[in-house]
Amino acid sequence: MLNNTFGIDLGSSTICIYNHDKRSFFHEKNMIAIDKRAGVIAYGDSAYEMFEKAPDNIKVSYPLSNGVIADIHNMQTLLKLFIQDASGGSYKNATYYIAIPTDVTEVERRSFYDLVDEAGLRAKHIYVVDKAVADAIGLGIDVKNSQGVMVVDVGFNTTEISIISMGGIVISKMVKSGGTRFDDAIRAAVKKEYRLYIGGKSAEKIKIDLEMLKENNEPATVYGRDVASGLPMERSVDTKLVDAALQEYFDVIIDNVKVILERTPPELSADIYKNGLFLTGGGSLVSDLGLQLARGTGLKVNMAEEAGKTVIQGLAEIIRNKRFRSVAYTIEGMGK
Ligand SMILES: Nc1ncnc2c1ncn2[C@@H]1O[C@H](COP(=O)(O)OP(=O)(O)OP(=O)(O)O)[C@@H](O)[C@H]1O
Ligand SMILES: [Mg+2]
Repeated sequence: MLNNTFGIDLGSSTICIYNHDKRSFFHEKNMIAIDKRAGVIAYGDSAYEMFEKAPDNIKVSYPLSNGVIADIHNMQTLLKLFIQDASGGSYKNATYYIAIPTDVTEVERRSFYDLVDEAGLRAKHIYVVDKAVADAIGLGIDVKNSQGVMVVDVGFNTTEISIISMGGIVISKMVKSGGTRFDDAIRAAVKKEYRLYIGGKSAEKIKIDLEMLKENNEPATVYGRDVASGLPMERSVDTKLVDAALQEYFDVIIDNVKVILERTPPELSADIYKNGLFLTGGGSLVSDLGLQLARGTGLKVNMAEEAGKTVIQGLAEIIRNKRFRSVAYTIEGMGK
């Protein structure tokens, strides 16, 4: 058993931390609010409350973008604050397991290691785990003894499509589709059709409610600003318009899953065919995506019970269960 050990899933929208000492999970928006003069004024969920509402002197931003660290300084500040909160202050000499994306540059992968190493946490050991492998373990798959597992993680700005065999990544591709792109597509369609500007949070709400609205045969109600008059307005938005707007980004995922399947060695394809693909990530909860993926690929689609939490659940399992420890590795040339 390992003590003083943390698992970290640094998502572009949410940071998830597993604290092994307390067996507890911590989830907060991966966001920071900085006042030009006063410095950091809010972080996590409270920074998100200010998002799209703050005056010009306060900058509210996500330091991670497209799955990689875009703003190292703010990410270091945030990570230290989050680890302090998740641990109650006792984190010195701890061991960290961090999930990192596969289809990014070596420099970007290394930057996750550097982040933890240089955030002022005094880390004792730092291990990395491929995000898709953590996802698979979090989904309850015995990755080390499985050959041919396909994981599709639909995240915030990106979707990572990966094939895993015997605990390692065979192929992985990151594509530009995911939750915020769905929101942006909805915003653009509402602007074009109803001449109404809506915010990202309103678009996200339509997306999350979409399944229920369709079941009830109801339109979505949105509030925004009229393009011509500049005045606040309420409108009913037809769900068919929303479905049509999302299609382009669903196709990006479906087409790329097919490309990856074409590149998969045939022996592994047989297992993927038998088991189906595994769909996870918060973005995968959007209405119809699972159905369309099944139809487009001919594969059974296994939906995660807790999409968006499978990476951190996988890291927790790796920390708890010695059997999985070998999927974690140190980054070459780094001493810890
Ligand atoms: N019920 C839902 N229906 C549709 N979308 C949802 C639902 N719940 C969450 N989402 C979307 O999931 C997205 C966030 O997904 P997730 O938490 O997996 O991202 P992340 O792990 O922070 O980012 P990434 O892994 O891409 O770096 C958001 O765009 C959010 O709107
Ligand atoms: Mg994620």
